[in-house]
Amino acid sequence: MIGVLVSGAGTNLQALLDAGLPVVAVASNRRDAKALERASHLAIATESFELGDYADRAERDTAMADWLERHGVRVVVLAGYMHLLTSAFLDRFPDAVVNVHPSLLPEFPGAHAVEEQLAAGVAETGATVHLVDEGVDSGPILAQERVAVLDDDTPETLHARIKEIEHRLLPRVVGELCAR
Ligand code: GAR
Repeated sequence: MIGVLVSGAGTNLQALLDAGLPVVAVASNRRDAKALERASHLAIATESFELGDYADRAERDTAMADWLERHGVRVVVLAGYMHLLTSAFLDRFPDAVVNVHPSLLPEFPGAHAVEEQLAAGVAETGATVHLVDEGVDSGPILAQERVAVLDDDTPETLHARIKEIEHRLLPRVVGELCAR
């Protein structure tokens, strides 16, 4: 059973759902994340865990892990989740938390990878799926695919092409993890 953490639009969550993967719970650090609506429309359990409602990150992460465990989650997918996770969360799902990121990691980690790659003038970029540790978009890489940057790319056009890769790569890797 899969739990998904989201902060934004949720197109990667949608790709997991479209692939027929067993997503049973979707959590966010933001009450207003659009991604939560995609899940609640399908009667999948949703909950938000805003940092301001807890004493610190560890307390928030413990509450989120408790909630996911109550829903039977064994594999956790970060699909556009824009907060770091503490060991209070990661220790609960050893080697079973994966993230998708719009660059060829370890190059360009962080929340603004697409803009930073365009500003740096890179000729190619891509998408990476990796196991999550306490760092920023760090941890062992599971899969990676490349795409060329075009002369007239804007952050929007480039991110759209990277997301096409993500929507293929992420369901494949998550499916493999669930089959272990
Ligand atoms: C995706 O491109 C994902 O790789 C990126 O956020 C986007 C979420 O889109 N994640 C990161 O940058 C993590 N550092 P979505 O909400 O439409 O799935």
